[in-house]
Amino acid sequence: MEEVEAVSAVIRSGMLAQGPQVENFEQAFSRYCNTMHGVAVNSGTAALHATLFALGIGPGDEVILPSFTFFATASSVCMSGATPVFTDVNADTFNISIDSLKQHLTEKTRAVIGVHLFGQPFAVQPVTKICEDQGIPLIEDAAQAHGALYHGKKVGSLGAAGCFSFYPTKNMTAGEGGMVTTNDPALSERMRRFINHGQAEKYLHTCIGYNFRMTDLGAAIGVAQLNKLEAFNARRKENAAYYDEHIQCPGIIIPKVAPGVEHVYHQYVIRVRSECQLTRDQLAIALREKGIGTAVHYPVPLNGQPVFREYAKECRCPVSDMLAGEVLSLPVHPLLTDEERLYITECINAVV
Ligand SMILES: Cc1ncc(COP(=O)(O)O)c(C=O)c1O
Repeated sequence: MEEVEAVSAVIRSGMLAQGPQVENFEQAFSRYCNTMHGVAVNSGTAALHATLFALGIGPGDEVILPSFTFFATASSVCMSGATPVFTDVNADTFNISIDSLKQHLTEKTRAVIGVHLFGQPFAVQPVTKICEDQGIPLIEDAAQAHGALYHGKKVGSLGAAGCFSFYPTKNMTAGEGGMVTTNDPALSERMRRFINHGQAEKYLHTCIGYNFRMTDLGAAIGVAQLNKLEAFNARRKENAAYYDEHIQCPGIIIPKVAPGVEHVYHQYVIRVRSECQLTRDQLAIALREKGIGTAVHYPVPLNGQPVFREYAKECRCPVSDMLAGEVLSLPVHPLLTDEERLYITECINAVV
């Protein structure tokens, strides 16, 4: 296995912290995304946090983001001292609603974080137009969408910065880790300082920064995984196409793909509607009894999270609230065999 070889080579080199592998990974990943710079960090959350810092976002600023996403999209905003503002999403793509976004703009809005949720690019063109009109940056949260395309362009290259995660369940991994892609050299320099104790040079600190550095061990895994990403994504798409074709149950809605985008199916998320004879939770239990693991992404939208209660007072996100009760993620990972996906499909069609 290439990853084992790559990690062994790093251990043998004695250079375990940041070294040449991190630089290799940054170059290879930014080249893959068609951006000039890649800044490797130790998580997707750190990627978002560093981006917000480098864009100068802090206390008193509002950052708009969808309510239906993973916690870190918003917690990173809080870490920067700014205020997250939650917008609703579209029921068919699970991605940010343009109408809701417009309704949440204020004179304090300083950035928008769009999330390519479950591997499907959000509507980048209309969001970019809004950001341009407001004179504010668009940050892509691409943690779930390595390799996805929007009108032929790689996610991560479409806004001021793209933030990726390499957590092990993602479309590719580095053990843990993250990366920011950008075409802005000044932004990339500010991030580099922030993720390395605020050092402009060794032992000269010009801002309060963190230790968000990726290790060479992680980067070596990342380089090996990047070489396999297209094959991983191709298999995810094949599995998704199989489900699209074969799941036939009244009341179950299969994922819809927006025109002009290439979805990379970090998750394959069905909606279990009230017309279905089982509830979402009953279906999950029935599948578990047949040995099939599913998951709910996400059972509580951000506007309903206890820690965000203060920020969510003014937010109305009825679609996110509805989706939280309907969504069920089926296994779609690249190691799923033909037999397994046939079995999963047969079980769903039989129990519903
Ligand atoms: C949409 C989204 N944003 C941000 C993150 C944060 O990434 P990490 O877990 O690497 O910090 C994740 C990871 O789960 C995610 O799914």
